[in-house]
Amino acid sequence: RLNRMNVRQEMKQQYTSFIYKLLKEIGIGAQHLNMRAYLIGGMVRDLLLQRPNEDVDIVVEGDGMKFATYLQEKFGGQVRLHEEFKTATWKHPNNLKIDVTSARTEFYDFPAALPKVEMSTMKEDLYRRDFTINAMGIALHKDQFGVLIDYFQGYNDLLNKKIKILYNLSFIEDPTRILRAVRFECRFQFKMDEETFLFAKEAVNNIPSLSKTRLSNELKKMFQEENPALIIDRLHQLNILPLIITTIDTYEAIERRVQSLKHSIYELYKKEIRIEESIWIAYLIMMTSSIETNELVILERYDLNKDEIKLMKEVFYLVEAQHHVTTESPMSDWHEIFNHTSTEAIITYYSYQANELVACALNYILAREHLIDKVTGEDLIQAGLQPNTLFKSLLIEGEKLKLDMPSLRKDEVLQKLLVHYKNMNKRF
Ligand code: CTP
Repeated sequence: RLNRMNVRQEMKQQYTSFIYKLLKEIGIGAQHLNMRAYLIGGMVRDLLLQRPNEDVDIVVEGDGMKFATYLQEKFGGQVRLHEEFKTATWKHPNNLKIDVTSARTEFYDFPAALPKVEMSTMKEDLYRRDFTINAMGIALHKDQFGVLIDYFQGYNDLLNKKIKILYNLSFIEDPTRILRAVRFECRFQFKMDEETFLFAKEAVNNIPSLSKTRLSNELKKMFQEENPALIIDRLHQLNILPLIITTIDTYEAIERRVQSLKHSIYELYKKEIRIEESIWIAYLIMMTSSIETNELVILERYDLNKDEIKLMKEVFYLVEAQHHVTTESPMSDWHEIFNHTSTEAIITYYSYQANELVACALNYILAREHLIDKVTGEDLIQAGLQPNTLFKSLLIEGEKLKLDMPSLRKDEVLQKLLVHYKNMNKRF
């Protein structure tokens, strides 16, 4: 039977030998403390999907804090206990973080749990989770190591590519699950089953009641998936877009920008240009009606980190500055305007406009990224100049020359800069 399937072989094949051994040790430890330990959640799901995942989540039928402390005493590392939730995080000496939670009911309801009750404890824990595919466990305690615990046909749903909730109130209790459902649908190319989809639709109005932090975390996770365009499309079908962003634009306009952004990111990715994590914010911007009027709304509505706020502000600055480059502008004009601007801000700004300038912007980013043999401050000093405030603009001038005339050698650029410098000085 599926819920007695043993996946020890799959674990051995797919997990690194470090993780596999560690899970075995965890099982031996559990047995020693007379507890049952299970690997649960994403790592189980991804094992069955043959996708890598090293987020080790352990549930024990027993005292999770005691168990984590035991692991720390035996293997070293650090342990952090969260009394309130009866959970603990154990950081292995090699930095791998392992979350240990206590299966709920045993703690509160059955202090002297009998083996029979222990089983239902695990069932209860799994039942409270979001989707059947995330509600599977793998027993780790020694006598059952590798046994797949699947009370709710999660494995079946996984084979049928279904996202299914476990109980009707699931989305009401936790509206982030609606966003998670969309995220998993797009990540795995799965679909919510009909009933789950209807429950999701009914619960979408609870999304705005999520805290700033929870909403932002979910948005970030969604827009950091491989295909945010697909996710946005699904959010649109579920009427979620107006609940997470203030917009009066048509979906067609949003879609055009989103596609343009997706294309730009992909082009840069293909050319191995580094793009910072904060780029997910760009997807939020694509959905706003007017960037400048929404600046404050966005900054107030979401809980953003320093890099994300910086990118947001950079883009607002570009909008306000109203630069004029055209498809005919030489690279030096682009560099004059954007030499200080991050790649992320440039593609966000132009993807938003989604016009013929996107291609030029990408060309500029590539050219700037591949500038080689640049004249440096050191070169200027060696040529006899005293370091001064004009250096910076002189160096940018050098880059502009090189961008327009890539065949110029460094010494030729330097000569031109020295002449330029003399002229600049005359002017002052
Ligand atoms: N979970 C849940 N409800 C939520 C969030 C999480 O029931 N709102 C449960 C699920 O069982 C999930 C587990 O907690 O598998 C771990 O959550 P998390 O690490 O956020 O998700 P993963 O499923 O591991 O997804 P990802 O691959 O995106 O990390």
